[in-house]
Amino acid sequence: MEKELIIENLNSCWKVEAFQEVTSTNDILKQRALEGLEDRTVLIAERQTKGKGRMGRSFYSPEENGIYMSFLLRPLIPPDQALLLTSAAAVAAARAIDAVGGGPALIKWVNDIYCRGKKVVGILTEAGFSKDDPSQGLDYAVVGIGINVWEAEEGFPPEIRDIAGAVFPWEKRPGRREERDRLKAQIIARLLDSFDAIYKQLPEKQFMEIYREKSLLIGKNVMVMSSTHQKMKSDPVHVIGVGDNAELIVQDQEGKVTRLFSGEVSVREI
Ligand code: BTN
Repeated sequence: MEKELIIENLNSCWKVEAFQEVTSTNDILKQRALEGLEDRTVLIAERQTKGKGRMGRSFYSPEENGIYMSFLLRPLIPPDQALLLTSAAAVAAARAIDAVGGGPALIKWVNDIYCRGKKVVGILTEAGFSKDDPSQGLDYAVVGIGINVWEAEEGFPPEIRDIAGAVFPWEKRPGRREERDRLKAQIIARLLDSFDAIYKQLPEKQFMEIYREKSLLIGKNVMVMSSTHQKMKSDPVHVIGVGDNAELIVQDQEGKVTRLFSGEVSVREI
């Protein structure tokens, strides 16, 4: 996709770079951040050969049907607010999907977007700390977002078929490449504009209100998977809310309330 197509749809200020193929937009941007690349650079690729997901997983990144993008921020925020960047990106991605008629997009804590019961967006934020003085906070943050825009005719590979979905089904995929590129550019531009508006007021955390409205989990029973052990805990917990620091607030069967700041949950049907 030509970067001009994105730029002409943008209302906020970003430096856009578009590539045909990269290993991982996150990895490239992290490397360039270490070399001093400027704040607010966005890198977009048609496909990734080593797309990365959370917890060491890979991210399926074929050509044509998806958006693979990362942006570099040099935020003047304390490290403990880095989680907010991911939540802000989730809200921005959900709004962009809704804006192009692909929703309703719902957010599954902490950073997945679901449409029609399937995961359509994954977000991976990676941060670097100031080498000279880590207490100075973040040197940079790279926010990477992968969006499955259309399902392929043959569907997703068997190993992710149960979970992965797309914003639009195969039948809604425009036949002409220019039309597909135009829609992808609109999604990217809406996402960046939305993120920009939130980012300007990140510490006020007002966007967390939208995060809660779009939450897939509030009111549901879930199983918690610890991020360190990747193991399911046996007891289900009830999600009673999401706090302003993007923490999941859960209640166990004895009524004890806990705030989870990291990890992953799976929705338990009752
Ligand atoms: C997840 O769901 O576990 C997170 C997936 C994040 C994927 C995106 S695609 C663009 C950027 N580059 C990567 O290698 N990963 C992120």
